[in-house]
Amino acid sequence: MLVYHLPGTFETREAHLDLLWEAGATGLEERAGLIRAYFDARSDLHADIADGEWREEVEQDWQAEFRRTLRPVKAGRLTIVPPWLTREVEAGQLPLIIEPGMAFGTGHHATTRMAVEALSELDLTGLRVLDVGTGSGVLAIAAALLGAEHALGVDIDPITIPIARENAEINSVPAGRSRFEEGSLGLDHADWQDEPSDVLVANLYAELHDLLAGEYAAQLRAGGPLILTGILTNKLPLVREALDREGFEAVQVREDGEWVLLTARAPAAR
Ligand SMILES: C[S@@+](CC[C@H](N)C(=O)[O-])C[C@H]1O[C@@H](n2cnc3c(N)ncnc32)[C@H](O)[C@@H]1O
Repeated sequence: MLVYHLPGTFETREAHLDLLWEAGATGLEERAGLIRAYFDARSDLHADIADGEWREEVEQDWQAEFRRTLRPVKAGRLTIVPPWLTREVEAGQLPLIIEPGMAFGTGHHATTRMAVEALSELDLTGLRVLDVGTGSGVLAIAAALLGAEHALGVDIDPITIPIARENAEINSVPAGRSRFEEGSLGLDHADWQDEPSDVLVANLYAELHDLLAGEYAAQLRAGGPLILTGILTNKLPLVREALDREGFEAVQVREDGEWVLLTARAPAAR
């Protein structure tokens, strides 16, 4: 498969899009800050667009197969779908469009689905939601679609940030209602950590929840809902103890196979 890689977006490269089509592109795709133009044969593009690059990519059958077998995933009031299946979203359900790619969070993992369900049960209208370990941005975007005034997604893996931003754009989340930043809780240089959160959701893993439980309590407003998942059933006691230690209340447990989701309320007074 022959692909011409061009840094930028459809917007910043508007002047070059016609040139790509005229040069024989069979398709254009914008992904994570890169335009990918598909070609059957090389052309003299470098003369017109000097900063692009030709790449021969191996078409991975498993990828095509994975895309073919993807189905919409219903999670509370939302249905998580890839962009080509939006027409399959049932009436009354809100589509949450996620381009399957390099970041975790297509909705096909039980933990993502349970977290979207838990968010969907809350009235998020006018609230500030923090998503720690945002991956594809799926949970922050879900919060924004469910009415949150502001959804902030943070992740220690920098590759996730442009992907999450792009997914927010695909879902037409209005500018200023979502933000994605590299980072985490408990780091010194957390310059995004400017305001307390009304709701905090984190799909990480049990040992990290144990480490971060104090940060969750400090970041959340008193009584604010906490949603934690990524927890294997045998690690549940570790997270429960951490929440008890930090004074979280109304702890509830849900299970799906080997995975657990916990909901709780931040301590009333700290
Ligand atoms: C299981 S994925 C969850 C993705 C998405 N939120 C979802 O629910 O599908 C966990 C994400 O957390 C990120 N992560 C791991 N450790 C982290 C940390 N200490 N702080 C913030 N993000 C972290 C990973 O890079 C990964 O993108």
